[in-house]
Amino acid sequence: SLKLAVIGGGSSYTPELIEGVIKRIERLPVTRIDLVDVEAGKEKLDIITQLAQRMVARAGLNIEIRHTFNRREAIQGARFVMTQLRVGGLQARARDERIPLKYKVIGQETTGPGGFAKALRTIPVILDICKEMEELAPDAWLINFTNPAGMVTEAVQKYTSVKALGLCNVPINMHHQTAEALGASIDRVKVNFAGLNHLVWMSNIRLDGKDVTEQIIDKLCDGAQMNMNNIHESPWDPQFLKSLGVVPCPYHRYFYMQDDMLNEELESAASSGTRAEVVIKTEQELFKLYQDPDLAEKPEQLEQRGGAYYSDVSLNLVDALYNDTGAINVVNTMNKGAISNLPDDAVVEISSVIDSAGAHPLSQGRLPENQIGLASSVKAYEQLAIDAAVKGDYGMALQALVANPLIPSAKVAKLILNDILEQNADYLPQF
Ligand code: G6P
Ligand code: MN
Repeated sequence: SLKLAVIGGGSSYTPELIEGVIKRIERLPVTRIDLVDVEAGKEKLDIITQLAQRMVARAGLNIEIRHTFNRREAIQGARFVMTQLRVGGLQARARDERIPLKYKVIGQETTGPGGFAKALRTIPVILDICKEMEELAPDAWLINFTNPAGMVTEAVQKYTSVKALGLCNVPINMHHQTAEALGASIDRVKVNFAGLNHLVWMSNIRLDGKDVTEQIIDKLCDGAQMNMNNIHESPWDPQFLKSLGVVPCPYHRYFYMQDDMLNEELESAASSGTRAEVVIKTEQELFKLYQDPDLAEKPEQLEQRGGAYYSDVSLNLVDALYNDTGAINVVNTMNKGAISNLPDDAVVEISSVIDSAGAHPLSQGRLPENQIGLASSVKAYEQLAIDAAVKGDYGMALQALVANPLIPSAKVAKLILNDILEQNADYLPQF
């Protein structure tokens, strides 16, 4: 028997995950899925559970799908615990996006101060889950999707003994979009990823073994699509991209095109709303659809969200761990020297061989100067922010924000920090 526990099971993304399980049932003999959520999310959890049950029934499978508010019960006996929770829900995300914009700083759920606030709310909850795993399921894997995924995974590595890997769907999307730009099927295209979560670069792109990195960069300069639904697609400067020599991820725009991205955010926040405010409406529509008793598959509308391929990412990883395949997956895992000019104990996002022992990151050598500067400062910010989230220390939190390259001064950092602490008081027991 193979049991999965999904924490944050009431998420609108859960039907993706169920679809992924159904697709792989021959390789992953899942017998039970426990969907866990908080009581405030009861209505959503009920709707999702019933849809998930209809989906497995339609597929003719005998998978028991339960819902519970009792996390311990779900963790007990689980081989894989998947975290996709959002502390404070989308309302908290909307505040994360709005606060920085007040001070003309990027307002984004994972990058910059928004991601910092999310880390403060999330890390204590994840560490609680890990305590329960240490006690009830010490051999289980934690598969973390909860953002900021890199920081959350690093907190788990540093403060618990749980086996954990962090995930993001950005690399797989870039891989698919590269194959599309080349007009080739994805199995003919090999790519390498190294960097941090939402700050990962793609390099060494090969089509049937032949290096086509430059060709892909040229195509990007000509406007080939390489983006996520949730990020405004400011066009890349060709000279910049060609001299960079590798392919940045969509989130790099917040650093490389900070001015354009900020202006765009300020404009859309004033007209259509921030991303969270838009997504709140999409979610309401999704949950309306999910209640249709005739619906027994993932609806197309879910594709308006940023989560494309999320189930492939998580279940390909579960497959590789469970079946000891040695497949290469991109995961957030402890660096251990793979990127030689980042700390060994830093969690990085990197192409890794996956087997039943976990992730073995592929050695990258040194990241070149034009990448390591940004990666190092963001990593320093992350490490300070993780410690601040655990210890609830104001000074450390301030140091973290000032270290973030998107914050212009200690003065602005303080204003933003004070707003974050005030508006999240209900979710920050550590402060
Ligand atoms: C991308 C990122 C995820 C993020 C999502 C947001 O997929 O990789 O980490 O959660 O976008 O999408 P949304 O539709 O909620 O803005
Ligand atoms: Mn992500």
